[in-house]
Amino acid sequence: MIMWRALGCGTSENRYIREPDGGADMSAKFAWVTAAATAMIVSAGVAASAAPGDPGSPRFGPGAPGAGDPYFPLAGNGGYDVTHYDLEIDYQPPGPAPAPLEGTMQATATLSITPTQNLDQFNLDLRDLDVESVVVRGRPARFTHDDGELVVTPRPKMHAGRPVRVEVTYGGTTGRPTDIEGALYGWVTTRDGAMVVNEPDGASTWYPVSDHPTDKATYDFDITVPEGLVAVANGDLVDSRTSNGRTTWSWSSRDPMASYLSTASVGNYELRTSKTPDGLPLIDAIDRDLAPDASAGLAQTAEMIAFFEGEFGPYPFDSFGAVVDDDSVGYALETQTRPIYSRRASEGTVAHELAHQWMGNSVSPQRWRHIWLNEGWATYASWIWAEHDGGTTAREQFEDVMAIPADDEFWQTIVADPGATGLFAGAVYDRGAATLYALRQEIGDAAFGELSRAWPQGFADSTATTEDFQELAEEISGRDLAAFFDAWVRTPAKPTP
Ligand code: TRP
Ligand code: ZN
Repeated sequence: MIMWRALGCGTSENRYIREPDGGADMSAKFAWVTAAATAMIVSAGVAASAAPGDPGSPRFGPGAPGAGDPYFPLAGNGGYDVTHYDLEIDYQPPGPAPAPLEGTMQATATLSITPTQNLDQFNLDLRDLDVESVVVRGRPARFTHDDGELVVTPRPKMHAGRPVRVEVTYGGTTGRPTDIEGALYGWVTTRDGAMVVNEPDGASTWYPVSDHPTDKATYDFDITVPEGLVAVANGDLVDSRTSNGRTTWSWSSRDPMASYLSTASVGNYELRTSKTPDGLPLIDAIDRDLAPDASAGLAQTAEMIAFFEGEFGPYPFDSFGAVVDDDSVGYALETQTRPIYSRRASEGTVAHELAHQWMGNSVSPQRWRHIWLNEGWATYASWIWAEHDGGTTAREQFEDVMAIPADDEFWQTIVADPGATGLFAGAVYDRGAATLYALRQEIGDAAFGELSRAWPQGFADSTATTEDFQELAEEISGRDLAAFFDAWVRTPAKPTP
């Protein structure tokens, strides 16, 4: 689903407005877009109009190869909206050394997509794996597959607004992909399975996808692995069945989800299910080879959910839990409903990844440069959880950040535009959190509390920008906050609080 923003009022007919496609900030920077695709972007919305002199026949063209995010120009695609992914993946992990650290995958992905323009060609993002066939509306389609772009030429052509099913059969060898900073991400093959963490554009290492947060969708997963291993995806566990030594794990994510938050991690896990006092299902998957204290940080999960519901409003999804793997990618990720931890889930990290369910997962960045709205909020949330739990106060955490000398390069990061290789810079987290703490001093606890609930509610299951956040803060506080936000997130220098 793309860019639908709930307005909170009005009739069911006009409750949603379509957000602009980022058209204005795209044109200049997009040398990579072919002339034809640029024309499609610029004319978005009128692409379906009739050709001059041929009023009866609608004009068709190619969808753009990217969603228009300057940090990752080819991530996501234009011309259509994916509403649902049905992923059937058969996976064989490498097993113990000396076997090479490579798995094998054989899969079928069925995508429900709705064209937003008349299409004679469209792209999907898929890296490293080989495509056997693409079937559109039951008919085999021609395709090419180079440099992570699967280009499909459907016949008959596709009409704006008419949903179609696209079935891609693919497979190959899985390895250990890395992001542009060199961190492991995507389908990370491990001896006993895989740790699957896609932020920001790694979903395309394991399925054909429109790999940008602006195209959220629901998901069904059928992951088949050797009997004895467990595959854990997002949402609810629907079924598991075993035949001929292989077990298929079926999961369903009915809440719309950005592709970077999808997972299907495989390991030697023990599944532990419970419910919060409010009845929210909790499903944890803990690697059997870990010592008990590796998952001790999960013990207060239910209390944390209750605490953050008080701060941010109702928990946004229909289940929660954790995957704690004895393998490591070097960090944890807030995969939707089921964060993943490398070797150890500490209390502070559990609070951070839980807070992301509201801040980042339900409200996601409309462009990757707005990532501080994820990381600043999640870091601030871990500060207030620690204070609530009798630990370090938020003020002390804030003061620690403000004790960093003005000439330290920490203050050089532009928080609201850190660059594609600066997505996870320390300042995005800590200066982002300090920004929120300073905003609370600036507008007062009452307005800040209202903002903390209105933000995840107003942009639920959607995407938003720094400008949206500033606007909402100004609306709620009745203050002009331009100078505040300029100093805190748009200037590469230490602000004076
Ligand atoms: N978003 C993760 C978190 O804060 C962190 C993350 C994702 C990360 N990819 C990374 C950190 C790569 C370091 C390197 O929960
Ligand atoms: Zn985070």
